[in-house]
Amino acid sequence: MNHTDIDSAVLRIILIGFMGSGKTTLGHALAEKIGWMYYDRDWYIENRRHSTVPALFEEVGEEGFRRIEHNMLHEVAEFEHVVIGCGGGTPCYFDNIDYLNRQGLTIYLRASVPVLAEHLRTARRQRPLWHSIPEEEQCAQIEKLLKEREPWYMKARHVIDIDRYDNIKDRDTTVDTLMHIITRT
Ligand code: S3P
Repeated sequence: MNHTDIDSAVLRIILIGFMGSGKTTLGHALAEKIGWMYYDRDWYIENRRHSTVPALFEEVGEEGFRRIEHNMLHEVAEFEHVVIGCGGGTPCYFDNIDYLNRQGLTIYLRASVPVLAEHLRTARRQRPLWHSIPEEEQCAQIEKLLKEREPWYMKARHVIDIDRYDNIKDRDTTVDTLMHIITRT
């Protein structure tokens, strides 16, 4: 399957979801499958600002980060034939989710609290909103934040349920589900 199976009006596939839902892992694999570039919104910010997300949180606080994130989003989501992985908070600030829905095919990777907790526990990425939470409070914190964010996530054009994936086979099964959505849209 390649990009010719995708409706020509679809210029961007945009993955949204909570930290640890698999946007980067799945986004990379999906982009490879359709022969498009993958853009991770956080990495794009880091390259453009010559900094890291944790350093930007330190420097300008969360509010400043959200403003940078919003501005950078308007750069990344102008590229064509790309898969974009958003940050967990991206859809929930300003009019970002409405903008994303105009720019591409948005897909919410919905995962349960235990799946998110497990993915976050084994993640290598530094997450300023996460690293200081004691382990015994992590599930409650995910639950709280997820409840606040889900109304924005649910504005995505499609929702898919993500189970735990810790091997290539699980990942590829989910990519097949994503391909099915994309090619019938
Ligand atoms: C955030 C998620 C992170 C990153 C920043 C804030 C959030 O991205 O943008 O640490 O508010 O959920 P990932 O979802 O890729 O971890």
